[in-house]
Amino acid sequence: MADTAEFTIEGEKYEYPVLSGSCGPDVIDIRKLYGDANVFTFDPGFKATASCESGLTFINGREGVLLHRGYPIDQLAQQSSFMEVAYLLLNGELPSKDEFEDFERTITLHTMVHEQLKTLYNGFRRDAHPMAIMCGVVGALSAFYHDSTDITDPEQRTIASHRMIAKMPTIAAMAYKYSIGQPFLYPDNSLSYVGNFLRMTFGVPAEDYRVNPVIERAMDRIFILHADHEQNASTSTVRLAGSSGANPFACIAAGIACLWGPAHGGANEAALRMLHEIGTPDQIGKYIDRAKDKDDPFRLMGFGHRVYKNFDPRAKVMKETAAAVLEELGVDDPIFDVARELEQIALEDEYFIEKKLYPNVDFYSGVILSAIGFPTTMFTVLFALARTVGWVAQWNEMISDPAQTIGRPRQLYTGPEMRDYTPIGER
Ligand code: CMC
Repeated sequence: MADTAEFTIEGEKYEYPVLSGSCGPDVIDIRKLYGDANVFTFDPGFKATASCESGLTFINGREGVLLHRGYPIDQLAQQSSFMEVAYLLLNGELPSKDEFEDFERTITLHTMVHEQLKTLYNGFRRDAHPMAIMCGVVGALSAFYHDSTDITDPEQRTIASHRMIAKMPTIAAMAYKYSIGQPFLYPDNSLSYVGNFLRMTFGVPAEDYRVNPVIERAMDRIFILHADHEQNASTSTVRLAGSSGANPFACIAAGIACLWGPAHGGANEAALRMLHEIGTPDQIGKYIDRAKDKDDPFRLMGFGHRVYKNFDPRAKVMKETAAAVLEELGVDDPIFDVARELEQIALEDEYFIEKKLYPNVDFYSGVILSAIGFPTTMFTVLFALARTVGWVAQWNEMISDPAQTIGRPRQLYTGPEMRDYTPIGER
């Protein structure tokens, strides 16, 4: 591509540099466009706008490629661990053995939460959605850890990052325990990151808890698959919140709020609900017809992606993991049959082929999580737990970027022009 792009606006020519990244499409640097030509660009949903420079994650949606710091997601999911991926995203390179042990130890040392934080949970109704609790409790961390909120200090930024990654499983497990009326469990630092989370979630103080290594590995994989995903809605929310210099814990709480929506992290919950609603393979045709009907708001949940227009590489690993978990647990879940058949039918349907709609990461994750024993309301919480790594890494990258500036999109204003105020009695 040319190294400049030219625009003609009302007969005037303007020339702007075209920047190349290490992979992916070039970008036209239009930073000076408004100053030069007094026009904005219009791009609702940011479908063609790069909001930042980033070296963390690369996605080629057409080819179904997802790389973290250059490493393909399937290699990481098969060969690495969530803790190692966290290190990679935060630090840019895979750790040496010593670096990895240090990192794991540091995260382990931060797994407990301030004892006073427990009292916050009591303020919530028992039937509160755990994502509502997560938004509140993670935001409240900003009131607990004052010694790591000076974002101009790289050391404090690192401590805040480690705290968030380490405490998220404890906070998530507490949200679950609160909802079912069981006592909170303190972390057991002899266990792995995932093993500890499983014990805090499914264990009880009255009994020993044995971590099932197959489930531990499956959860670790699910966490890897959700660790980061470039500039998605929640990550962009974290960056935008953080661009004002806001408290890091509050920024992550903003990300959690955004993730909760059904078009984003809430989709796995919606996908499983949909599979249950379909119930049996013979009902699939009816739902496919509804998804294609322009007058019906129904969409096939777990299908389609803003970026992947070929296949979602995470969905492949998720499907394999689902089969392994169901086999280990001896679960013969008819919902898995519905999922498999729905996938097959949709992949052969002209509508889905033409619109490039493929199963996404959320399609199979609900089946796995419910087989493990998580209620649907916890699905997005698990996504938030894993994505905290990406949010924190992206937030750090942004704050350390010398070109960082407050995010401030503009608009195409279509409201009334200036008019005079009329007192209420004269209207
Ligand atoms: N079922 C039926 N039709 C669909 C679906 C679907 N799941 N997704 C998109 N379409 C149609 C849509 O109606 C539109 O048709 P038309 O061109 O005739 O108006 C066309 O496909 C393009 O859709 P879009 O909404 O413009 O695509 P988008 O890139 O803006 O939306 C999406 C992406 C993920 C929001 C959407 O595909 C969707 O709502 N999927 C279901 C929810 C879901 O599974 N979300 C999880 C995303 S992956 C997890 C994550 O990363 O957060």
